[in-house]
Parts: sequence; C-alpha cells; structure tokens
Amino acid sequence: MDIRDCPFRKKRRPWRVDLSSFALVTLVLALCQLPVARADPVDVLRMLQLPSLPEGVRKVPGFCTSRRAGSGDHAYRITKKAQISAPTNQLFSGRFPENFSIMALVKAHAGLQAFLLSIYSEQGVQQLGVELGRSPVFLYEDQTGKPAPEDYPLFSGVNLADGKWHRIAISVSKKNVTLLLDCKKRMTRALPRSNSPVVDTKGITMFGARLLDEEVFQGDIQQLLIASNPQAAYDFCEHYSPDCDSPLPKIQSQDPNTYVSNTAKHHIH
Ligand SMILES: *[C@@H]1O[C@H](CO)[C@@H](O)[C@H](O)[C@H]1NC(C)=O
Ligand SMILES: *[C@@H]1O[C@H](CO)[C@@H](O)[C@H](O)[C@H]1NC(C)=O
Repeated sequence: MDIRDCPFRKKRRPWRVDLSSFALVTLVLALCQLPVARADPVDVLRMLQLPSLPEGVRKVPGFCTSRRAGSGDHAYRITKKAQISAPTNQLFSGRFPENFSIMALVKAHAGLQAFLLSIYSEQGVQQLGVELGRSPVFLYEDQTGKPAPEDYPLFSGVNLADGKWHRIAISVSKKNVTLLLDCKKRMTRALPRSNSPVVDTKGITMFGARLLDEEVFQGDIQQLLIASNPQAAYDFCEHYSPDCDSPLPKIQSQDPNTYVSNTAKHHIH
C-alpha cells in the first residue's frame, strides 16, 4: 500500500509529541505500511482489480444461473479492449511458490488460442503462461531457462476454448504438471525444470494475453486462483468451485457490489 494513500496520515500532528499520540502515530503508520494480507489461494481476479470493472470488463452471469444457497454466480466478461496487468509482487509477497496450483473457472470464446495468464521476469522473460485453446501448452521457464520451449508440456487432444464453461486446475509438483479438467479428466506431463526453480516476482503479471501476441483472451471468467501447494488443484471442484447444487465458498464471493478492500486504491498501469 502506498503510504500516500493512507487515510489516517492527515491526522498526524508533528507538534503533538506526547507519548500517547506518538504511540498512535506509530500504530497508524505501521498499519498503513503493512502489506495487504495475501490469502492463499491468491484470488488473481481480485488482485488485478477486476471487481472495479476496468475498461473492457463487465459483469455477467456466471457458471451457475442459480445456486441452492443464494443467487446465481457472477463472472467477468473480458473483451479485446481489456488491458490488465500488475506488478507480480502485488500478488505474491516474497517468492512465487515452487509447487503450486492454478485454478480457473472460465468460458473462452470458441476457437480462441490465447494466454489466460502470463508472468514475466524483471528482465521481460515470460516464465509462466497458461494457454487456452486447442492442445494448449503450459509455458514455464525457470531462472536457468528450463524447460526449453520444445519441452513445454503440451496437452494435445484437449480443447479449453470451445465456448463452454470449464473448470481447469493445473497442479505443478516437482517435475510434473497435471491438468485436471472439469473434475474428471486427469493428464500428467513432465516438466523438466531445474531442481531449485525460481519464478521471479519482480516483473509483471499480465491477464488475458502475452506480450506481442495478437490474439488475446475473450470470454467470461469467474475464478482464477493460485495456491502455494500442488494439492489444491485436486480439490478445486470440491473446495473452491463446487457444482451448482452447493453454495460457493466464501472466498469466491466476487460480487463487485460487496467488494471492499484497501487494494481498491491501487492503480494498475
Ligand atoms: C516441491 O515438491 C517436491 C516434491 O514433493 C519437494 O521435494 C520440494 O521440497 C517441494 N518444494 C517446496 C519449496 O516445498
Ligand atoms: C510424475 O508423473 C509420473 C507419471 O504420471 C509419475 O510416475 C511420477 O511419480 C510423477 N512424479 C512426481 C514427483 O509426482
């Protein structure tokens, strides 16, 4: 959080130096400088400010038109105009996890071939990329350049962009990546990365695209979560993205109307 944004800062009175006001000022400054608490899993859509509906994004009905408990789901419709990115360290304090899960509830336009998410190093190297489309690749490149592009895991025979909703969960553990599709299909591919792989968090995270690609993601997205453990992907349908006869867990309440967060003050360029 930018210190200039601190709503309490104006209350500071330099001429009041008695101990209580000193303590108060210290407390307030400490609160204002605390990093925004990062949940696990990271709610990527929220961290990228989608609930504030930036240009090219609007609210639409989501995966379930109704749920047993409560109203129907909400999703975000992403059009070509959207340009959504943020410094990666706004999403991940410290390191990007070595073993992790990426989970999405998404409905891509039929025939699309585009990246849903890209993470770039400070030097501008794309280190992670989730592609949607026919026979999508899972792009991953550690600090040593492994795996080489010809060794990127490829999920041939799968189509993640057919105009229908899909629950896509990717589990990365050690040197394997497993795609769990719609709570049933399971495909594991080798991920020949090094033994201590690092994904840089000093660069940028880009939603719905990768640099220099003409094709960008178009469609609806309801959830995009990154967990710092490889097990979460296996539990995606049960814990995070249940069928329509179960309520959505709290973390998924992505109704922009109930969105209250200090991070709303952040501006993404
Ligand atoms: C990632 O998973 C592998 C295999 O289970 C394990 O050996 C390694 O320590 C894990 N890395 C971290 C940072 O937990
Ligand atoms: C990687 O996947 C292969 C094939 O499914 C499996 O035999 C192996 O145990 C997996 N390794 C790890 C570390 O999960």
